Amino acid sequence: MQKEEPRIRILKDGPYIVSGSAPLSEKVIVPKGDGYVYEEGRTLPQKATYSLCRCGKTKTPPFCDGAHIASHFDGTETACKTDYNVRAARIVGSGIDLLDDGRCAFARFCHRDSGDAWELAEDSESEFHHAEAVIAANECPAGRLTAVEKDGTVHEPEYSLAIEILQDPEEHVSGGIFVKGGIPIESVDGSVYEIRNRVVLCRCGFSGNKPFCDSRHVSEEYDDRNPT
Ligand code: SF4
Ligand code: FES
Repeated sequence: MQKEEPRIRILKDGPYIVSGSAPLSEKVIVPKGDGYVYEEGRTLPQKATYSLCRCGKTKTPPFCDGAHIASHFDGTETACKTDYNVRAARIVGSGIDLLDDGRCAFARFCHRDSGDAWELAEDSESEFHHAEAVIAANECPAGRLTAVEKDGTVHEPEYSLAIEILQDPEEHVSGGIFVKGGIPIESVDGSVYEIRNRVVLCRCGFSGNKPFCDSRHVSEEYDDRNPT
């Protein structure tokens, strides 16, 4: 029998249905060294198919417990469906350029001790700033930032297919769902979003750019262990 490939299907005003045995883990964002790193969080059960909460109200995070029904969750997808390369602005640096589509999950990996991704690109004549700009862009889980060499070479980290539930204790919040390695995400209307190596899906229910995280979990102080 042919193996089913991992896929995420969005249910109307309901959860994300993940199929194809996509590996699931929890990752904790922590400041370390020159920037931020992920540390392992709780061990989560591995299943062939599972449903992840999208409304932020579940009592069994990260899994759906049906709370979206009682809370009358409005999960209408509002994100634009144009491709990243069309959507993103190009920031021309002295040694390397950045593409930036503004979709931020406030994970802060773009902030390095030596500067943020934009400052580093702007002043990227030195080998060190050039390399730091690539790290800052590559580590953005939302895929907001991409470093592009002047000869057109695009930097992209190599990720295996995986789904990571983010926790952000420094901000005292829970983060979104880091979808890695190009897992297709199917909209309620049956269309498939542009397949990308890095995106963060909203799981707090507050994003104004559903299904993607727009950092609202920070201002809403979303804590998956203490849903409001
Ligand atoms: S999601 Fe990307 S752009 Fe936003 S803070 Fe994190 S690394 Fe920076
Ligand atoms: S999880 Fe980030 S806005 Fe909902």
